[in-house]
Amino acid sequence: MLQTIFQRRSIRKFKDEPLLDEEIGLLLQCAMAAPSANNLKSWQFVAITQRERLNELAEIHPYGKMLQQAPAALLICGDSLLQPNIGYLLLDCAAATQNVLLAATALRIGSVWLGVYPREQRMNDIKVLLNIPENVVPVALVALGYADEKKAANDPWMPEKIHYNNW
Ligand SMILES: Cc1cc2nc3c(=O)[nH]c(=O)nc-3n(C[C@H](O)[C@H](O)[C@H](O)COP(=O)(O)O)c2cc1C
Repeated sequence: MLQTIFQRRSIRKFKDEPLLDEEIGLLLQCAMAAPSANNLKSWQFVAITQRERLNELAEIHPYGKMLQQAPAALLICGDSLLQPNIGYLLLDCAAATQNVLLAATALRIGSVWLGVYPREQRMNDIKVLLNIPENVVPVALVALGYADEKKAANDPWMPEKIHYNNW
């Protein structure tokens, strides 16, 4: 687990090879294992594997050009009918998104978090493209695929960010 945390890096180059349905299913299951405020599990997910849809998302997202190569993407959304507090909804979705990134790393699948919330234009364009209901907030898009680039593991230690007992 600790190795997976350090090895997770944003992968933006993908091989032209589809993911297995079982892999996508496992990533979704890991997303659903995330903690959520009041255990309300406010997430909803859209799994995207159609090439045309992925290309359309690449057009919409200004920093998502890698979606033209990625064989899959997961959109992590929050359902405001399940969690009316937007702060909690976002935190639930962030926890689920991080689980997807870590699970992908553990499965040797490359991934990158593409920000959606709070960019109104992106959120609206994605909602229209994927027919997402009014009460559902698209929060994060994760591009997925077998990596076609190698990146060194993270090796962070930033003592200036740590405050022991008091600030
Ligand atoms: C909220 C959020 C939004 C991000 N949006 C993008 C994005 O739109 N495009 C992209 O290529 N990477 C995006 N990233 C990935 C960051 O650029 C990346 O995590 C950071 O540069 C650190 O690199 P690492 O993930 O390899 O450790 C996003 C990350 C977060 C947490």
